[in-house]
Amino acid sequence: MYRPPRVTSNSRFLNPWVVFVTVFAVVGIVAMIVGLLIHFLAFDQKSCFYHSNVQIMNVEYNDQLSSPGTQEYRILSERIESMITNAFRQSNLRNRFIRAHVVRLRQEGNSVVADVVMKFRFSRRNNGESMKGMVQAILQQMLNNSGNLEINPSTGITTITDQDTENILTQACGARPDLITLSAERVIGGTQAEEGDWPWQVSLQVNGAHHCGGILISNLWVLTAAHCFRSYSNPQQWTATFGVSTRSPRLRVRVRTISIHNNYTPATHENDIAAVQLERAVTFTRDIHRVCLPAATQSVTPSSTAYVTGWGSLTYGGNTVTQLQQGQVRLISTNECNASASYNGAILPGMLCAGLLTGAVDACQGDSGGPLVQEDSRRLWFLVGIVSWGYQCGVPNMPGVYTQVTAYRDWIRQETGV
Ligand code: ARG
Repeated sequence: MYRPPRVTSNSRFLNPWVVFVTVFAVVGIVAMIVGLLIHFLAFDQKSCFYHSNVQIMNVEYNDQLSSPGTQEYRILSERIESMITNAFRQSNLRNRFIRAHVVRLRQEGNSVVADVVMKFRFSRRNNGESMKGMVQAILQQMLNNSGNLEINPSTGITTITDQDTENILTQACGARPDLITLSAERVIGGTQAEEGDWPWQVSLQVNGAHHCGGILISNLWVLTAAHCFRSYSNPQQWTATFGVSTRSPRLRVRVRTISIHNNYTPATHENDIAAVQLERAVTFTRDIHRVCLPAATQSVTPSSTAYVTGWGSLTYGGNTVTQLQQGQVRLISTNECNASASYNGAILPGMLCAGLLTGAVDACQGDSGGPLVQEDSRRLWFLVGIVSWGYQCGVPNMPGVYTQVTAYRDWIRQETGV
């Protein structure tokens, strides 16, 4: 009887299934080992924060240092931050140091004290307390050769928790989540905003329906556009909500008073600014806090990047939305914006154009009163404009027109004390 030749080999090891399973298992084990190594070497780390009161002996305190929007404040803070950064970059903690941030400058006697928060990443075996000595030593060495900043040699550091750090940065103006966690990397993009991305954004509502945007500038005050109150001027009709969703807001507060600029002129849109006082002070949190205000002298740089946010319609004539949207635009010089192919002279002093000359990204109906913001070199966000008017929405050569905040800096201080 004929028997067909055996096709299977007599060696077990050459059985294709056995080979497959063996290779699979080996690859799996190697991958796991590599994974664990990477995990322990690189990712098994935690953030540690320190706080320090750095007293600068040879800088005399002056009023310019009381607001983060001034050039003086920015320059001094940057010098302190880069001095600390350089000290750690040149030390054996260079791979552990993440960032130093000046939270506040204040007066002490005749000199200046900077509140500084520093972030490190240490492996889990260490903690903030055990590394404190080393951090302190490097800082001490820096104090001895700090160049032209003369620092109090008895400057010490304290270990603070993640929560302390978050609280400190939430009280400061203009901090987004990436600054609050003092991360090295930053995220921005997409068109739908996430909770906490624009913590100063307010929805001003009439009888519970979104009507205009607003901007939180202190615990008690919201800036917006004067034209928002043309049909509804009674403060009792208005509430302010916070959080990215107008459908399920994080917080709702009644409006107490509305102050409209005395020279607001509907026909020309001049002085389209108003200040709204809330019924009670809001407690700042990571997701709800104030934006920074620029100094009156701060110049606007044409073609620099800015962001506009709001619940306004996505197309001209469309409905407002319930999830906060964000758009990236550029500032446009008044000259260019007043060209005959654009607004032909309608851009008056106190107004500012921003958009893309190709159209596409713009504020629209329902965004009015909302913020146009820019990030400064220290990653703080400043209010540069308030959504005011425009020809339809996103039309080429017809960018959005905003109330220029620097022009109203004194008015804001006078009305709100901020
Ligand atoms: N006036 C509009 C409002 O009440 C805002 C217009 C902004 N338009 C523009 N194209 N940027 O919501």
